[in-house]
Amino acid sequence: MASISSDFADKLDLEPRSSVAAADPCAIVIFGASGDLTRRKLIPALFELAACGSLARRFAIIGFARSEMSDAAFRDSAAEAVRRNAESCQVSNESLRTFAQSFVYVAGDYDQPDAFEKLSRRLEELDQERHLEGNRLYYLATPPAVYPKVIAQIQRAGLVRPANGNSWVRIVVEKPFGRDLASARKLNATILKAFDETQVYRIDHFLGKDTVQNLLALRFGNGIFEPLWNRNYVDHVQITTAESLGVEQRAAFYETTGALRDMVQSHLLQLTSLVAIEPPSNFDATAVRNEKLKVLQALRPYTPDSVAADVVPGQYAPGQIDGEEVAGYRQEPGVRADSQTETFVAAKLLIDNWRWADVPFYIRTGKRMPRRVTEIVINFRRAPHLLFRGQGIDTNTLVLNIQPEEGISISFHAKLPGQFMRLTRVAMDFSYRAAFGASERSAYATLLNDCMRGDATLFDRADGVEAAWAFVQPILTAWEQQGRSVPTYPAGSWGPHEADELLSGDGRHWRRP
Ligand code: BG6
Repeated sequence: MASISSDFADKLDLEPRSSVAAADPCAIVIFGASGDLTRRKLIPALFELAACGSLARRFAIIGFARSEMSDAAFRDSAAEAVRRNAESCQVSNESLRTFAQSFVYVAGDYDQPDAFEKLSRRLEELDQERHLEGNRLYYLATPPAVYPKVIAQIQRAGLVRPANGNSWVRIVVEKPFGRDLASARKLNATILKAFDETQVYRIDHFLGKDTVQNLLALRFGNGIFEPLWNRNYVDHVQITTAESLGVEQRAAFYETTGALRDMVQSHLLQLTSLVAIEPPSNFDATAVRNEKLKVLQALRPYTPDSVAADVVPGQYAPGQIDGEEVAGYRQEPGVRADSQTETFVAAKLLIDNWRWADVPFYIRTGKRMPRRVTEIVINFRRAPHLLFRGQGIDTNTLVLNIQPEEGISISFHAKLPGQFMRLTRVAMDFSYRAAFGASERSAYATLLNDCMRGDATLFDRADGVEAAWAFVQPILTAWEQQGRSVPTYPAGSWGPHEADELLSGDGRHWRRP
């Protein structure tokens, strides 16, 4: 067995760049080590943490997957993954070589007890060699169908409980967490038969984005916004998560998933709950997650009629992005020629509680839209007494740009210079980049570090994930029962016209990001 060099962090030639606390020593086991997520997100995020001193000095990363591979080949593929995908770190050959030394690989079938016994032995050896204090983090990065097998085998191999009172064992579960309410409940039951809830970290990478967390800073760290943050002053809220990319190589996954399951049940409902929550009593996992749950539970349930009226699916047809012709969804490799899978969803949500009664939240998400942008727009009510009629006075808006141009912008009316009282719309802009420079950490780096430090604030709890599915379930049911013909939109547009009508029917319109 190749041994792992010690005190890795000392050897990296990068300056510590972040104020993130270092995590406990631990072994990180990635199930699904040869997959896309591991390559594109997890390994680069671990490198980022190591490079900024936010990973413990003593750590080991164990890749587990079906295909046979030597430690050396896994190290090469890890180094390549960092080179290609590291988002916010400089990568030198030396730092990469040192980092890759921490990788080992175990090949095995997910339902083979032998393979997990081999894993167990390997973990023990690494523990001794690296003084990892018995701490273990398992990351489920396999296709979801494999999760129950892995959990059963981890349990069978006696790898679930911490070795002693000072060590910990945690498991990160990737989305999609189930594909409907029943399967999410079943998955929770499977996980919670093996692990305690306190060991379980259900990940939604949107919550690791600084600007998403900044929503809480903006709302609860300032005195000026919160007094206005309610039905007395807010007319409606819009949340857009648009991507210019299409389905890429993921047709097999996407054909059975669609935008409602892929984006709405997770990311968009997370954003909605952070916009809408009441101030938590503390910034800790219990308090924040309790408040988020209350929002999800207050969402007005859809009926078959309100699904038809208030939820708009869409699918991209051929079109143009940045002047380039792109294929329609049905022409993508691996997609059925008559596919009815939605690549776009717009919906009107109502939150039946004291703060938000009658304030619509319009959400939308889509692939192959004109550009990649995630933004939250708070539209305030118009001034109650219009002195300046006929001047096109519109509502004031507060726009939170989550990505890619992270920032906050407030629009209001100001007098144009000159003799006459003529008003125009102006904006006050705050840019993250201008204030703080480029973003320091990727979302996955933040969340992995939180997990290794035992902070579950930004992860979902069993009841939260089920409440989100409970809200989405009537849409899935109605779409299944009614059968549907999904409206199309040209790639490079902002979605089908039905999505515009969702707002124009209420006398409103989408903000063009
Ligand atoms: C993932 C979805 O969860 O989020 C993808 O499965 C989507 O379909 C991605 O492209 C978007 O994330 P980000 O961070 O690139 O905006």
